[in-house]
Amino acid sequence: MSEKTILDYETVALDDENSALVIIDQTKLPGTTEIIRLKTGEEIWDAIYLLKVRGAPAIGVAAAFGIYLLAKQIEAEDYETFYQKFVKQKEYLNSARPTAVNLSWALNRMDRLCQSKKDEKIPAILEALKEEAIAIKEEDIQVCKAIGEYGLSLVKPGDGILTHCNAGQLATCKYGTATAPIYLGHERGYNFRVFADETRPLLQGARLTAYELHSAGVDVTLICDNMSATVMRNGWVNAVFVGCDRVAANGDTANKIGTSVVATVAKRYNVPVYICAPTSTIDMNTPTGADITIEQRPAHEVTEMWYKERMAPEGVKVFNPAFDVTDHDLIAGIVTEYGVARAPYTESLKEIFQKKNS
Ligand code: MRU
Repeated sequence: MSEKTILDYETVALDDENSALVIIDQTKLPGTTEIIRLKTGEEIWDAIYLLKVRGAPAIGVAAAFGIYLLAKQIEAEDYETFYQKFVKQKEYLNSARPTAVNLSWALNRMDRLCQSKKDEKIPAILEALKEEAIAIKEEDIQVCKAIGEYGLSLVKPGDGILTHCNAGQLATCKYGTATAPIYLGHERGYNFRVFADETRPLLQGARLTAYELHSAGVDVTLICDNMSATVMRNGWVNAVFVGCDRVAANGDTANKIGTSVVATVAKRYNVPVYICAPTSTIDMNTPTGADITIEQRPAHEVTEMWYKERMAPEGVKVFNPAFDVTDHDLIAGIVTEYGVARAPYTESLKEIFQKKNS
């Protein structure tokens, strides 16, 4: 019997019987695989803020299950009281992280469902909320697979692919977004050579991407963030695939800090940069990258968190934005579940949504 790997665990699951959100604590990977069960609003909020569950799509699914579980705890006789408490919990969860639009996208979808059931009894509303959260999770798997197929059409067997941060299975419910073409290609014998940036300061590339791809038997090489120019200059990279936390209507894209550096270097070496984005991550209400709120994180993540001892002078100023914006002119294509959008993105992203809504 083959050994269980990290890919055999569910990133996010619902244990309805015990009213718990079940996740892998990603802050402990790769050393320890700890499955944790979250029940209270504070536990779920903390897990999102502390990146125990992270990656835009996984955050959305966790929030959907989370709001359902919190709705189950609401004590109310009538819809108005129930809904008032529901909105309070929704706003609380939504405040955990600001950049990944999937968080508000999933919570708003649950909210719309709740409002559409206002004439029904509370147990029926709860049942509908549960089904909606399960649908959000199942859709995520199908969406990632479709992104994988479109992404795979952009590369050829033997190609070198560079990725940044973790837009892998651990950031979604299966396949990942940026890793979906890699996993599908791996199944079909494409023999990709993947370069995973370590991704300072929280090391999602080293701890998560290198871990899950290596576990799957993909040829993956870990590099420090400052080595991407070297591997591109050497001609080892044919394409960059990254995920994203929010795509603005003009194609500007927020993703893990350092993505815009990779994209700028890739432009210099004529390597195409593909942003893998489920439509749930595309925010047509945000006109440009300048309108995206960038999460600022605490200084200790940079100075000491991953070291045995502090690696910076006490009291030094630290700037720690969690994301940066890659300008749309650095992007060769935005790979969605409805196809690949190309510049001009103001037009092509609208077409993607027309396709989705038709
Ligand atoms: O801070 P994180 O680890 O949640 O950041 C994750 C990323 O930046 C991912 O690339 C993005 O969420 C896409 S995940 C499919």
